[in-house]
Amino acid sequence: AMDMTTAPTVVEGAFTTILPIPETITSGTALNARSQNAAIVAGKTGQVLGYKNGILGPTFRVQRGSTVTIPFINGLSEETNIHWHGLLVPAAMDGHPSQMVTAGQSFNYTFKIDQAANMAWYHPHPHEKTGKQVFTGLAGMFIVESPEEKALNLPSDAYELPLVIQDKRLDANGAIMYSPTLEEVMIGYMGETITVNGVSSPFQPVTTRMYRLRVLNGSNGRMYNLALSNGNSFLIIGSDGGLLTAPETVTSLLLAPGERADLLVDFSKIALNSEVYLQSNSFSGVSSQGSQTFKILKFMVNKTETDTFKMPTSLNSITPLSTASATKTRTFDIGVMMDMTSGSHGGTMAMKGMHTINGKIFNMDRIDEIVALNSTEIWEFDNTNGDEPHPMHLHGTFFQVSSRTGGRGNILSHEKGLKDTVLVMPGEKVRIITKFEKVGKFVFHCHNLEHEDDGMMLNFEVK
Ligand code: C2O
Ligand code: CU
Repeated sequence: AMDMTTAPTVVEGAFTTILPIPETITSGTALNARSQNAAIVAGKTGQVLGYKNGILGPTFRVQRGSTVTIPFINGLSEETNIHWHGLLVPAAMDGHPSQMVTAGQSFNYTFKIDQAANMAWYHPHPHEKTGKQVFTGLAGMFIVESPEEKALNLPSDAYELPLVIQDKRLDANGAIMYSPTLEEVMIGYMGETITVNGVSSPFQPVTTRMYRLRVLNGSNGRMYNLALSNGNSFLIIGSDGGLLTAPETVTSLLLAPGERADLLVDFSKIALNSEVYLQSNSFSGVSSQGSQTFKILKFMVNKTETDTFKMPTSLNSITPLSTASATKTRTFDIGVMMDMTSGSHGGTMAMKGMHTINGKIFNMDRIDEIVALNSTEIWEFDNTNGDEPHPMHLHGTFFQVSSRTGGRGNILSHEKGLKDTVLVMPGEKVRIITKFEKVGKFVFHCHNLEHEDDGMMLNFEVK
């Protein structure tokens, strides 16, 4: 079936608002999901959701090995919870859709940081409401640091910029609107306003040196084919699960909802007092989005600075999981069950899209897959019959991309490290390999949040 609708055309802003950097916090700071006011577009203050002050939430910075406690208060008028996307936490702390915090109640999230340095993020995970709550403003970044990473002397402090890229749909007053039609459930709910850290079309002054950009695609359904407006190359040094073994040089990078990219951009290659944009290049492979090239963030090179940064020859060591060590291969057909039903109003035909995995819609209590603790498995996601992209995300583990056939046909630069979300484009079959080391019940699902809310999610239990 061809999709009947396409992404709204992006309307670029003025690039005159300075890029806000969310406050950095550590263990012990409370998060309070609540409604508040924020100016996504300068001069217009609209109602949004956030975890502390304004839209989004603060950025956690924590050390590997430490134990983190986060008191959480649900100040919404409906249930919510927090999923720590990209953190390996015990199942009871993972924000499974059955672990809700009801309106007005609180919950203490506490877990040990037991993984390599990476950039994770956090967001609500209530079944059928994740899309609405994330789109309206509930998301934040979570950075894990380690001595090994510190020793690499990567650009830090003012030279390390966390960037949450999201699209928003705004009304005339600058308030976020969320009300997907059935067609928008098919392609994902998208907006015309591209925000970075909660602000439309911002700018960031930079100096003539290397910067580390830690990018999260926190959008519900929109993908970004990240590139520099002058066509310069940049380096990918890490992805979802931490640093790659060695940097990869690219000129563009297609980032799907839920994925992160750790990038190095050399602004010494840009003339002083000139500007360059982080933009999204048009891309092919899907009919519902990708036809437009648009600017996201403006960098203004305004100062000469001597760069002392030296690129390490090796960033990380990652032991490849061999397919021979896998004791099981599971296949997952990701797709849409078309159900033409007559609508209840006046007999008009309504289309209901039911997003499924192996023909099943999410059921909170049903265990779909049972996995033996500490076993290594291959999971194959098959989108050869689909016409929409599906970024597939597993809770409770990091994986390696083992193969891709059809579509883009290979393992991409940012997929050479540890991942928790992998993009499966129409026509593709992607195989991942992982060792399941966390006990308990977790979900895996499409990170297009409208697809997820529409049922494209299953439970697996490791025991
Ligand atoms: Cu970022 Cu289950 O999600
Ligand atoms: Cu999907």
